[in-house]
Parts: sequence; C-alpha cells; structure tokens
Amino acid sequence: MNLDPENYSILTKPIDSVKAFLTETLPQLGWGKSGAEEVVLDIGCGPGGNTVKLVLPLFPQLKKVFAFDLLPNMIEFAKTNNSHPKVEYSVGNIEEWSTLEKWKGQITKIVSVHCFQWLKDKKNGFYNVHQLLKPGGEAAICLVTDSSFYKIILKVKNKPKWKDFFQGVDDYVSDGYLYKHDCLHYKKMLEEIGFHVRLCTEERKLDPFSSDNEYRNFFASICVFMSYVPDDLKEEFKDDLFEEMMKENGRNGDGLPLHWANIIELVIKKK
Ligand SMILES: C[S@@+](CC[C@H](N)C(=O)[O-])C[C@H]1O[C@@H](n2cnc3c(N)ncnc32)[C@H](O)[C@@H]1O
Repeated sequence: MNLDPENYSILTKPIDSVKAFLTETLPQLGWGKSGAEEVVLDIGCGPGGNTVKLVLPLFPQLKKVFAFDLLPNMIEFAKTNNSHPKVEYSVGNIEEWSTLEKWKGQITKIVSVHCFQWLKDKKNGFYNVHQLLKPGGEAAICLVTDSSFYKIILKVKNKPKWKDFFQGVDDYVSDGYLYKHDCLHYKKMLEEIGFHVRLCTEERKLDPFSSDNEYRNFFASICVFMSYVPDDLKEEFKDDLFEEMMKENGRNGDGLPLHWANIIELVIKKK
C-alpha cells in the first residue's frame, strides 16, 4: 500500500466530523479531565497533523504521545512537518504484535482516526489495542463503514480506461463496507475481547472541504490506485476521480464540495 502524505496534508483544517469527535465527544466522556498523567498512543497517525492539532491538546497532564503508522513515508513527513517535544513518531503496524509489544500494558489512552477501516483483520487490531492498554485505560476509535469513496473506488477500478493498470491490485475497500458491518457487529466483537463499550454510534456525516483543489488532492492521496497509474496519466486519473466523487457527493449551499460517509465512533475501556 502506498499513500501520499503531501497531498493528504493539503487540508487547511481538520475534517469537521473528526474535530467534533475529538474536541467535543471525548471531553464529554471525561477525557482530559482526570488529572492523571497520560501515556497516549495514536494508531495510524498518518502525516501527524491531527496528532499535533487535535490529539495532543486533549490531555493537559500529558507524559508522552507515541504516534505510529504503517507507512515509513508518512512517519518521515510527520517528523519533518509536525514534530513536537512530547510526540514520538515511529513506524508500526497495529496488526503486527512484534511492532507493538514494547508498549504492552503501558498505555492509558489510545486514539485512532480513520485507520481501522484499512485493517484486514479488525478483531486482531482491537485485540492488540486491549493488550496495549493499562487496566482502566480507554481507546477512542473512529472508522468509516459505508462511504461514497468506496463506491467510487469500485466504479473507477472497472472503467475500461483504467482497469488494466489495476489488475491484481488490492483496492483496500473495507470488509465493513462490503458486508455492511454496523455498530452491533463491532459491539459484539469488542465485548468478546473483554472491553466495556462506553460509546458505539454510527452516523452519516457530511463533511465540506475548503476548495475543489483540496478535495481533489486529498482523495487522490488516499486512493491506493494512484501509484499504479503511469506518471503521464496521473492528472487525468485525479480529474476522473474528482468528477465521479462530485457526482456522488455534490456541494453545500456555499458551493463547497462535500463528502458523505457513515462513521462509527467507539470509546472502549479495558476492565
Ligand atoms: C486516512 S489516514 C488517517 C491518518 C490520521 N489518523 C489522520 O487523522 O489524519 C489512515 C492511516 O492509517 C494508516 N494505516 C493503515 N493500516 C495501518 C496499520 N495496519 N497499522 C498502522 N497504520 C495503518 C495508513 O498508512 C494511513 O496513514
């Protein structure tokens, strides 16, 4: 899998629904108010913008944020562009225990924004979250289930113009989308692992983007097909992706491009 941290970071502000989850929902559930010193893990931190702008400020009594991502280029970008004395970035895989065991049972809070939809074995990912937390520790995870982006990925993948480039390429469309996993599915899985589920909601979110350019580059940055398109056709592919996304999502009253997705928000506690 190859994603593009520079185009991902073109966002001039955090996505509204992500910001609301981290800055409104979590404080309402007592996050940041305990007075206890926190050791925080950000799973799938990407280029680090949200780690520094949204995760870090959540915790007034912060010892450290360990932030990791599967992709070395994301971590390189984060170290260069979003460094902070209290944030330590590294490469890691939430599905691979050998990359995580150094934190076993030490983490008081885990945050993961739009990473779990990428996992092939989500139960294993949640199991590792359980192993990483201290007893009483909590994780806040948001992930996409139904999404206009997945719909368009499956459409573009089969277009005669592009399909030869994508033969045998994993499209990373989530099993949660393909099998319509809802809150009950995740609640059952999390309780089986041993979590107390404090919050489990699914809601359709409509997020506006600041400009067409931002929208076009952001969705290209998380499209796994981009790196398989020859260089001289990349701009044409981005235009096609943008056009298809616009047909599916439309614009708000101010003319700004929208994106709809059903998001599951979870807050889970290790007993
Ligand atoms: C949509 S981005 C979200 C980035 C960041 N959390 C944010 O809020 O902007 C998803 C990130 O999850 C990472 N990722 C995917 N699978 C992963 C895994 N198994 N372990 C760790 N990170 C993973 C990707 O590399 C990507 O950077």
